Amino acid sequence: MTPRLLSSVLAVLAGTVAPLSAADRPGFNYDESKVLPYTLPNPLVSADGTPVRDAAAWRTQRRPELLEIFSREMFGRTPGGRPAGMHWAVTSVDRAALGGKAVRKEITVWFTEKKDGPQMHLLVYQPPGGAGAHAPWPAFLGLNYFGNNCVNADPGITLTTARVDQRDDFGVVDHHATERTRGVQAQRWNVETVVARGYATATVCYDELCEDRSEGLAKDVAALFGTRATEERKPDEWGALGIWAWGLSRALDVLQSDPEIDGKRVAVHGHSRLGKAALWASAQDERFALVISNDSGCGGAALSKRNFGETVERINASFPFWFARAFRAYNAREDALPFDQHELLALIAPRPLHVASAEGDAWADPRGEFLALKAAEPVYALFGKKGLGVAAWPAVNHPALGDALAYHVRTGKHDITPDDWAQYLDFADRVMR
Ligand code: GCU
Repeated sequence: MTPRLLSSVLAVLAGTVAPLSAADRPGFNYDESKVLPYTLPNPLVSADGTPVRDAAAWRTQRRPELLEIFSREMFGRTPGGRPAGMHWAVTSVDRAALGGKAVRKEITVWFTEKKDGPQMHLLVYQPPGGAGAHAPWPAFLGLNYFGNNCVNADPGITLTTARVDQRDDFGVVDHHATERTRGVQAQRWNVETVVARGYATATVCYDELCEDRSEGLAKDVAALFGTRATEERKPDEWGALGIWAWGLSRALDVLQSDPEIDGKRVAVHGHSRLGKAALWASAQDERFALVISNDSGCGGAALSKRNFGETVERINASFPFWFARAFRAYNAREDALPFDQHELLALIAPRPLHVASAEGDAWADPRGEFLALKAAEPVYALFGKKGLGVAAWPAVNHPALGDALAYHVRTGKHDITPDDWAQYLDFADRVMR
């Protein structure tokens, strides 16, 4: 590798080179005055026109109906829950990790009886002290992009053996985690800060569940469930986002078995495509106690019917294996969608939900993320929740932290920063303590 290539790889990994900005993707709308009128479906009216008047009707009728619609039309059906043969083992524990500031655990999870079948590796940090005064610890759980080794420079983290795409300006330069990937996204995870605030933080590399490419649907968890190839799938068969979401639930299964973790207080979080996965995971799995969507954008928290930034057609073309094939029916036809993303957010009600945007992330439509959250408020109101407490899109760096809903837009680009984490931790203190 040339020195230029190497420095460029390191810069991308370290997050110092911005991903494509809005201006790099011409042909999409970034002009608020060009947003066309649109009508959002009412989450509180069933498909047959019946109004949803109370929380009981939401739970027993409308919620299952919406889950069915999102499964059939967008993410694809989740073919099963925890496999009968799934088992796990703690492979390492260091009670004096990070210079004594944390306990580090590594857990291998095999999805079948076989040790050579599909598997994932869960990394957990928790405050020191074991089953002391504050354990079991509430926890944050999220998928990572470059292997568990990317979340902290800790030399004790086992390098992932999964195929991880390392890209630079010229494309993919490596498919393996190496020492240089250790800690490259540490600023996105803030392990020391999270642990110092009294939380555990847990992660799995998303590529271990399903590689982020079309070929991923022929391997690992996809193969376990007999998923067909990307273009051969039945219209409602799942894709990578469904598999990543499924993996989050399996990680939660494991966390809930750990007496040092409070399995009833596990927050799920994710950035960008992994934010989409976190939302779909928590829509389906009500065990997640708090949900955090960081810049999840199109197919995540942003409204699809609002023509701003990324479109349904574009996301299906760029990532044909992320969603169900059925979702392509809405390419350039967002007006025909019988649902929108505010209803995905509403599926999380009444559990706390924090949506965050970045000012410089027009591709993800920050205002559309806020508007989706506002449009989910009536469902939260059924449960007596007051909502965000603001009527209009808040100013940049002025978070709105309500009783169950929170939103902030910060300065800067598409990323997760310590400023985002400061808000997430404050909101978690409020709703998970
Ligand atoms: C692309 C994609 C987005 C996605 C993002 C990411 O920009 O178009 O939908 O959120 O990648 O995951 O970083």
